[in-house]
Parts: sequence; structure tokens; C-alpha cells
Amino acid sequence: MKNEILLSAFLGFLLLAGCGDSEVQKGPTPYEFPGIFYFPKDLNIPEDNLTTEEGVLLGRYLFYDGRLSGRTHQDSLMSCSSCHLQQNGFDTGFDHPEFTSGRPRGLAGTFTPHYTLPLVNLVYNTNGYFWNGFIEASNPQYGSEAHHVPAEPHFHMKNIESIVWMTIVDPNEINGSIEQTVQVISEIPVYPPMFKDAFGSEEVNIERITKAIAQFVRTIISNNSKYHQYIEGKTVLTESESRGMELFFSEEADCFHCHGGFLMSTYEFFNNAKDSVFTDPFDRFGVTGDIMHTGVYRAPSLINVELTGPYMHDGRFKTLREVVDFYSDGLVISPYTHPLMKYISTNGVQMSEEQKDDLIAFLKTLTDHQLLTDPRYAKPSDLN
Ligand code: HEC
Ligand code: HEC
Repeated sequence: MKNEILLSAFLGFLLLAGCGDSEVQKGPTPYEFPGIFYFPKDLNIPEDNLTTEEGVLLGRYLFYDGRLSGRTHQDSLMSCSSCHLQQNGFDTGFDHPEFTSGRPRGLAGTFTPHYTLPLVNLVYNTNGYFWNGFIEASNPQYGSEAHHVPAEPHFHMKNIESIVWMTIVDPNEINGSIEQTVQVISEIPVYPPMFKDAFGSEEVNIERITKAIAQFVRTIISNNSKYHQYIEGKTVLTESESRGMELFFSEEADCFHCHGGFLMSTYEFFNNAKDSVFTDPFDRFGVTGDIMHTGVYRAPSLINVELTGPYMHDGRFKTLREVVDFYSDGLVISPYTHPLMKYISTNGVQMSEEQKDDLIAFLKTLTDHQLLTDPRYAKPSDLN
């Protein structure tokens, strides 16, 4: 009996020693998000897709690989980076090589219903993605017959993972098919080993593609603007920038109730008094069915706002000057105007020209120049 115990203890030791052997498969390495003290601690990461170094790397390749479209012809390539450009804070921007008005078109040539949103700090947004917040963790699990995708659990509309497959099938974006994309990606020699590193086997499937890209997108964090360096005590603002900051955070101009906090957004939804007639079916009302959500959209983060024009969901303003002029004296009342648009009775805040200059100077301190060339987020140099 005693020998048996000794023997099994010895075998157990061998087993343990075996685990330390370098030939034993290691899992992927967990990715560490930076702890930024002025950003929320709560990260929007689904439990079934924890972030790993290998997953993020694979996601970065796929994010930039036009063959995600499921085609290989030069004219039919499209991936996330076709519309979300690093040099424009992962928004489309005016200087896009193809979409000169800043308004993206899909492979079939049709425009997307709204202008692009930038892909930074998304991991901190727990309040729904898209201008209308449609992509939300509490949405029911469903496949979408409208999109001709099977009713399988990973075709949900809950998080960044969902946005990947939606982009592939959306007629206004890639206008492709899941099967074709999986097929094309699995035939590119570099990928199967990367899928193995990230997910344990070489199998390429849509669930893994969506997970990898979502992992990469979550790692795109922007907190190196002049304003954030100022918060960290590393730099000072000019007099004009300081006056603009005070205005922004004061009741006088009253921007902070909606674009406040260090993320420069509350991620809440408002009607900010642009119109009295509403025709867009994809406003917040289209999601909630609450009539008071007519003409309501998310107040976007203003980080990198200098680069993310044209502005508003419909790109109606071309410059920050036009936006500030609007908030100063261009407001239009409707039954849906949010009460926080406090200066509606005077058509706006009524700023002097100097105040407008100051406010714009402050908005420009929100540009994170380091992000725009950060090699961690850049196109891999060996990807054509
Ligand atoms: C044809 C242009 C185009 C392509 C390609 C594209 N996007 Fe987008 N993206 C958009 C537009 C336009 C929006 C805004 C949609 C809306 O809210 O109505 C958007 C919004 C998003 C959002 C929501 C951001 C937020 O703050 O709510 C995410 C996430 C996103 N895209 C990720 C991706 C990923 C990942 C890919 C690649 C699989 C991709 N996009 C490809 C145009 C594009
Ligand atoms: C009641 C909430 C609210 C207040 C107050 C408010 N905004 Fe906005 N802001 C929004 C909403 C909502 C949007 C998006 C509307 C849309 O897309 O149709 C927006 C959009 C913007 C945009 C465009 C961002 C982009 O990427 O397209 C800028 C710039 C902006 N606001 C700056 C300001 C400034 C400066 C102030 C203060 C003078 C201010 N906002 C006050 C809610 C608000």
C-alpha cells in the first residue's frame, strides 16, 4: 500500500515535470491592457474572447488585408483599413485616397448610410456601438436571415465581433459572403499557423476571424494627445487653449455634459438640435422605438476630432469652424431637442469670434499624433 502511494506520487512528479517540458504546447499569451488612471476600469470584452498577444497580431493582419473581402482581384479588395485609416485616427477623413468627400462607399459602389466612426478607445465604451448604439451586449442571440447568414450563435449583434461579419455581408460595405472570405483567408499560407498560435488549431472559420479582428481593435487606445499629457502634468496649454478648455467645461458653452470625461464622451445619446424634420431610419428611434429618440445619436468622443471630419452622422459640417458656428447660433428646435441643449431659445451659445477660436484651439489639443504612426497599430510591413 505504502509503495503504491509512493509510486503514484512518483508518477505524479513525472507528469508535473513533463508539463514544464518545452515540447508541451503553451496556450496563447494574455494581452495586458495599460492601466490608465483617468480612463474607466470597466473594459468591454466578452467573456468568450479574452485578448491574447497572438490573437491581436492575427487580428492586425486581417484588419489590413483586403482579401478579407473574399476576393483577390486588385479592384475587389476591402478590409477594415479601407475606411478606418490610422493616419486619420482610424476614421475615414477628408484626405482618403478614394472617398474624397470623406463618405465611404462599399465594393458595390453604394454609400454607407452614415459617415464613419473612429476606432479608438472602443474597449471603454459599454453603452453600445454605432451612431445609434444598435450593437449592444444585451441584444438577443440571433442569426440574421435578412443578411442571409445562418442562425448560429456567433452571428450575433452584440459587440465588435459582430461588426466584423456584418461588414463582410453588408451590401454597402464588402458585399461578400462568409464562405468565400473563410475560403480565401484559409488558402493564404501565412494564416493557418497564425490561427493555430491564436486559437490552438489551424482551422480558419468566421468565428475566429471575427474574434481576432475584435481583439486587435480593442487594443487601439488613444491617450497621448496634448490634452491628456496636460492631465498627466507633462505639458502646459497655451493661453488660448486654456481659455477654450474652460469654455468647453463651463456652463457657458456647455459642451461637457455630453462630451465630458477624459474620453471626451459620455457615450450617451442626444438630439443636438440640428433639424426640425427627420428622415433617417437609422437614428436611435430606429433602435429603441421611443418617439423621443427621433433624430438622436451618440455624442461621439472628441479625441482626434481635428482628423475625423466631415462631422456628425451625416457629415454635414466640413470643418470644426462650421461645427462651432452651429453650436454658437445655428440650433433648430424640435419636440425631440434634448434639454441639455440649454441655449436653444437663443439658437445657440452665442460665442464671440475669440471664444470660437479658443474653443477650436482646445479641440485641436485632443489630437493624438503618436497614435497616427504607432507601429503597434500599423499595417504589418510584410503584408502587401
Ligand atoms: C466601407 C467602409 C467601412 C469598412 C470597410 C469598415 N467600416 Fe467600420 N464603420 C464604417 C461606418 C460608416 C461606420 C459607422 C456606422 C454607423 O454607426 O452607422 C463604422 C463603424 C464601425 C464601428 C463602430 C464604432 C463605434 O464607435 O461605435 C466599428 C467597431 C467598426 N466600424 C469596425 C470595423 C471593422 C472591424 C471593420 C473590418 C472588418 C470595418 N469596420 C470595416 C465604415 C466601414
Ligand atoms: C446635448 C448634448 C450635446 C451638447 C451639449 C454638445 N454636443 Fe456635440 N454632439 C452631440 C451629439 C449627439 C453629436 C452627434 C450628432 C449627430 O451625429 O447627428 C455631437 C457631435 C459633435 C461633434 C462632431 C463629432 C464628429 O466626430 O462628427 C463635435 C465636434 C461636437 N459635437 C462638439 C461640441 C461642442 C464644441 C460643444 C459645446 C459647444 C458640444 N458639442 C455640445 C451632443 C452634444
